[in-house]
Amino acid sequence: MRVQVAIVGGGPAGHLLGQLLHKAGIDAIVIERHSREYVLGRIRAGVLEQGTTDLLDEAGVGARMHREGLLHGGFSLDFGGAHHRIDLHHLTGGKQVMVYGQTEVTRDLMDARAAAGLATAYEAEQVSLHDFDGERPKVRYVQHGINGKQEHEVECDFIAGCDGYHGVSRASVPASALQTFERIYPFGWLGMLTDTPPVSHELVYTNHARGFALCSMRSHTRSRYYLQCSLDDKVENWSDQAFWDELRRRLAPDLAERLQTGPSIEKSIAPLRSFVAEPMRFGRLFLAGDAAHIVPPTGAKGLNLAASDVGYLARALTEFYAGSEGGINAYSDTCLRRVWKAVRFSWWFTSLMHKFPDSGGFGEKIQEAELDYLIHSQAASTALAENYVGLPL
Ligand code: FAD
Ligand code: PHB
Repeated sequence: MRVQVAIVGGGPAGHLLGQLLHKAGIDAIVIERHSREYVLGRIRAGVLEQGTTDLLDEAGVGARMHREGLLHGGFSLDFGGAHHRIDLHHLTGGKQVMVYGQTEVTRDLMDARAAAGLATAYEAEQVSLHDFDGERPKVRYVQHGINGKQEHEVECDFIAGCDGYHGVSRASVPASALQTFERIYPFGWLGMLTDTPPVSHELVYTNHARGFALCSMRSHTRSRYYLQCSLDDKVENWSDQAFWDELRRRLAPDLAERLQTGPSIEKSIAPLRSFVAEPMRFGRLFLAGDAAHIVPPTGAKGLNLAASDVGYLARALTEFYAGSEGGINAYSDTCLRRVWKAVRFSWWFTSLMHKFPDSGGFGEKIQEAELDYLIHSQAASTALAENYVGLPL
């Protein structure tokens, strides 16, 4: 098989790239290790920047998001048992964010891909990348069908590595060609999805002595809650009741009283890390999204960065086929400038909102001072707001 672009990984980055390339008349295959159902079963991001919703519109998949997604013009920053609204809309000259789950974004992209009859290889095993230092890269994989095991080879002009943090793309680059930067945080997030009305009409980020808590949502009837947990915590150790009890302890009294509880639909633990691999291009292999960088979820930036990377990549490849290499040559530097700003913001917001072990009280006093400054200084709240809604592409 021969295509212009082989996309490794069928998460949101891979599928959005596939759709943007399709709109530009560039043919691509998406090669995904898992099944469609498995990919859609992972509950992750919930907040989209306007730059991301614009890209989804450009890809022609924004209709359901505009119908069912919730536009939010602010969120609550809670500490000391009180609420402090960050008015995103006012502080950023009219910008908002869209609350619409990553699962739904990916489903809309998968459906559009299937409706256009575009090639996706699900349940692809032993995916391997070859010859991306030359002009004829290849991707090989194995699929098990009714006729037994089948080996495939895709010849292409470019490979897009959109296969997440644990994927094969970054791992295929010689270690000497990569520089990596990492920070591991001493805690994780325990997330729970429930068919209960959200406790508040906007997101609530809470700094509490027992640890961070986040109240988010997927709709007016479906909530997503997160608790800071320890790295050795196990989901099995958290009954639904234990989760609700702990959440109630961390929320401001009025919210704790209003909280509506119910059985969980999904519960999972995610460790928190910051990670960047540089550069993001090696010959004819481009890394995009979590394959190149990870941010802790506190700033809601991971999916949005994945979207901006593939937005740049789609534009660069379109320029290439129109006769200019400027875009592909600038790809890595253009992405990394934006990536590092999101890494900085996510690190800062994580540091501000979580309980750190053994800080001896100093760290907590600094957090209190910074939170107090944030809510009383227009300059400081503006800086938070403009990063949260997303820096310009
Ligand atoms: P992934 O979603 O990881 O997709 C990669 C795909 O590649 C997967 O489908 C995988 O199966 C496939 N793959 C892996 N290896 C191979 C292989 N060898 N061959 C073929 N395919 C392979 N971000 C936000 O912007 N806002 C938020 O509110 C937010 N909240 C989050 C909350 C949590 C709890 C977590 C964990 C993350 C959150 N994120 C958020 C981050 C966001 O989910 C990720 O940044 C996003 O999923 C990145 O998309 P991706 O397509 O790059 O990678
Ligand atoms: C979510 O709804 O899953 C979500 C929202 C905001 C975040 C992280 C996750 O910062």
